[in-house]
Amino acid sequence: MNIDVVTLFPEAFEWFRGQRHVVNSLAAGSTLTLINPRDHTPLSGGQVDDAPFGGGAGMVLRVDVIDAALRAHYGEDPVDLRHTRRVIALTPSGRLLDERLVGELAQERAITLLCGRYEGFDERIIEHFASDVVSIGRYVLAGGELPAMVLADAVLRKLPGSLGHAASALEESFSEALGGFPEYPHYTRPAAYRGWRVPEVLLGGHHEEIQRWRLDQARHRNQ
Ligand SMILES: C[S@@+](CC[C@H](N)C(=O)[O-])C[C@H]1O[C@@H](n2cnc3c(N)ncnc32)[C@H](O)[C@@H]1O
Repeated sequence: MNIDVVTLFPEAFEWFRGQRHVVNSLAAGSTLTLINPRDHTPLSGGQVDDAPFGGGAGMVLRVDVIDAALRAHYGEDPVDLRHTRRVIALTPSGRLLDERLVGELAQERAITLLCGRYEGFDERIIEHFASDVVSIGRYVLAGGELPAMVLADAVLRKLPGSLGHAASALEESFSEALGGFPEYPHYTRPAAYRGWRVPEVLLGGHHEEIQRWRLDQARHRNQ
């Protein structure tokens, strides 16, 4: 998968790029490319935003600046870009990111993530360049960098070669294998700690019983 991120703060992704599953995904052929609109702005002094028409607090990311950044990177009119790849504007009020959307995006060959800052995007960026508008939750963060990492993290770990154990991604919260339910509880050594005992069924070595118990636990966690 080809993930391009349009961000005013590319350095924010340094930590993310070093995470094991991201390193694995990149080694397996995925790419993570950071595009800084400041490098392409047609305005002087590296300007990328402006005061909102109609007044109000904060600055708004300019449509001409994002147009120039996308055009410089892709070599085409960004209006056409969304016909060949998902161009996702990250906003607090977009479609909520969930397991279904992550699974959908993991099937894509390439996606572009647009990170807002300050007061957000000039609406024409969303109307004319984006194919999707996605939120990671109904709260407001300072910028789209963390949402972009959340989305990329969830998508990349679905790809083959990303996780040390491929099975880890099969049977986890909200997966088909668990019928869409949250994952069952896990325990490890010691089997007893301060009087808190691990459920007996997990110590018995009967795989069918363990599986039945786990599915039952998963179902009940949803209530
Ligand atoms: C301070 S926010 C702008 C909030 C905007 N004025 C509003 O009220 O919806 C700046 C940027 O952070 C990103 N952002 C903040 N919270 C987000 C969330 N929950 N999901 C996705 N993106 C978010 C968006 O890219 C947004 O443009």
